Amino acid sequence: MSFELIRLSDPVDHRAELAVDVRHGLGRRPKRLPSKWFYDDRGSALFEQITELPEYYLTRAETEILRARADEIVATVAPDEIVELGSGSSTKTRMLLEAMRRTGTGCRYAAIDVSEGALKDAGSSLVDDYPWLEVEGVLGDLGRDLPRVPRHGRRLVIFLGSTVGNLAPRDRPAFFRTIREGLEADDAFLLGVDLVKDEATMVAAYDDAAGVSAAFNRNVLVVINRTLDADLPIDAFEHVTRWVPGASAMVQSLRATRRVTARIGALDLEVSLAEGEEIHTEWSCKFTEEHLADELDDAGLTIERWWTDVGDRFGLALIR
Ligand code: SAH
Ligand code: AVI
Repeated sequence: MSFELIRLSDPVDHRAELAVDVRHGLGRRPKRLPSKWFYDDRGSALFEQITELPEYYLTRAETEILRARADEIVATVAPDEIVELGSGSSTKTRMLLEAMRRTGTGCRYAAIDVSEGALKDAGSSLVDDYPWLEVEGVLGDLGRDLPRVPRHGRRLVIFLGSTVGNLAPRDRPAFFRTIREGLEADDAFLLGVDLVKDEATMVAAYDDAAGVSAAFNRNVLVVINRTLDADLPIDAFEHVTRWVPGASAMVQSLRATRRVTARIGALDLEVSLAEGEEIHTEWSCKFTEEHLADELDDAGLTIERWWTDVGDRFGLALIR
């Protein structure tokens, strides 16, 4: 039917937001950068490559569940529209959209993502392949902008890929409350989460032999250099990933392999790191059904249905 791109913030705001995050994140100890800044066009493409890696089981496991359950999910909720947070290429979403078409419920899909390139690519190929679908790409922040997406009837909000694990653990309670506040009586929330498993499997998923995860991690520095006129030496940072049991998370960082001094031109800021100093770049929290149910319960949400893949690697929860 149609594809429309809605900008909830303009490019100047986007750059200003990165500037605030860089000034704040690199001016403190330990240094940190929010993971949403990985995703320029190159970062989105690198993530798609990650989903194909033999070590990165998450996408395949979630696809397996969706393939088996998409019809059941859509028949249970009968949504007029699907609203997706952090939609990326929307590849797995196609299974739900096709189920929506089969059951003759809704014909509308709104996708919120920070990556303009990913939204445009996904949106244009969806309207080519599904001429009956109305697609809205919303360029914005998934933690902030859901309440600003206009509603068109009963809603299935979806958040796939275990991207919820990329929120800092302390930010999850407020995020789940925002989800609950946005749901009306017959709406539902479909959430995909990676499950806690043996450490070696989780570590390999974030430290692949081909080095794609490392390139993805370093891409945040490429984005800062280009957007904020900075000269961070990309080659002086190594990719680090570790399992942090206390946070139930794989944690990614970039470690300076030598002393680094760099200038962030747009901020008139000099940044220095000692040899061995790390910049925290990403949380990838892992869940158990019980822990997730408790957190959701605290926000007034309940798991109505729970599915896993055959290997129990990944969980998909239908929540109200
Ligand atoms: N849902 C897809 C893509 C996951 S990759 C899948 O399951 O494969 C994570 C996606 O979330 C990327 O497309 C990235 O651009 C987007 N993203 C990350 N942080 C975001 C934020 N704070 N606001 C909006 N989008 C975000
Ligand atoms: C998008 N997100 C769920 C991925 C993850 O597994 O945390 C991003 C990623 N980071 C490194 N590899 C993949």
